Amino acid sequence: MRNILQAPFMKEFCATAANMYRLGWDERNGGNISVMLDGGEVGKYLDPSRVIRTIPTGFDAKPLAGKIFLVTGTGKYFKNVARDPETNLGIIRIAADGTTAELLWGYKDGSRFTSELPAHLMSHMARREVDPSNRVVMHCHPTYTLAMNYVHPLDEKQFTHTLWEMCTECIVVFPDGIGVLPWMLCGTNEIGEATAEKMKEFRLVVWGMHGIYGVGKDLDEAFGLIETVEKAAQIYMLTAHLPRLNTIKDDELKTLAEAFGVNYRKDFLNL
Ligand code: 13P
Ligand code: ZN
Repeated sequence: MRNILQAPFMKEFCATAANMYRLGWDERNGGNISVMLDGGEVGKYLDPSRVIRTIPTGFDAKPLAGKIFLVTGTGKYFKNVARDPETNLGIIRIAADGTTAELLWGYKDGSRFTSELPAHLMSHMARREVDPSNRVVMHCHPTYTLAMNYVHPLDEKQFTHTLWEMCTECIVVFPDGIGVLPWMLCGTNEIGEATAEKMKEFRLVVWGMHGIYGVGKDLDEAFGLIETVEKAAQIYMLTAHLPRLNTIKDDELKTLAEAFGVNYRKDFLNL
């Protein structure tokens, strides 16, 4: 067996978590990531028939039965992930019953997956219906995006429109816009179901006064989506209290989207 700490998927995960911490998106244990791994790839590093322990998930994820995920642990600090992956991360396989996680590696101190597993796995299920190449769900608490939640209406059209106006590339990066949920209790099946419902339509979902979810085919894609939103939110927060002299107009946003050939939310523009 090869050393799993040297696996490309492990190195990429650790580098991403470190980057998210560096950017201030993941204070303390804030945030969580899940990546669907390739079963054949995992088999090079561990024996998939060796289950360390089973952990009930408390919800049904039967469409993901047999799928393997690398997932951050609950209560674990992003700043520590790269230093000690085996304590802070786990590799789980969804059992045939759809409600049990089989631990194949990690959570060395006896801990378990993130409390947000419902939102993660339900989002994986929802996104894969739309795009079978989706493999990553990422949640974090980016500073400016969160700040914006307190001073801007939590309305999907208005929130998306404001961010599109902040940087020229926004409508190209997230033409499908941003779903917004009101404040809800986190770590529950209910917020998981609400998030997954939004994921049918959006690759980005804001949890009101809490944080954001981004998805993608790989870590770079999910990270890049959140990074672009956070940059735009930063521009908004740096300028919202100042007189606005210039803006990108809706007909210019339309021109941009058409030039880049992206399928944008036409109903999010006022044309
Ligand atoms: P976990 O430590 O359980 O992953 O929770 C962090 C978080 O961001 C909750 O929304
Ligand atoms: Zn959170």
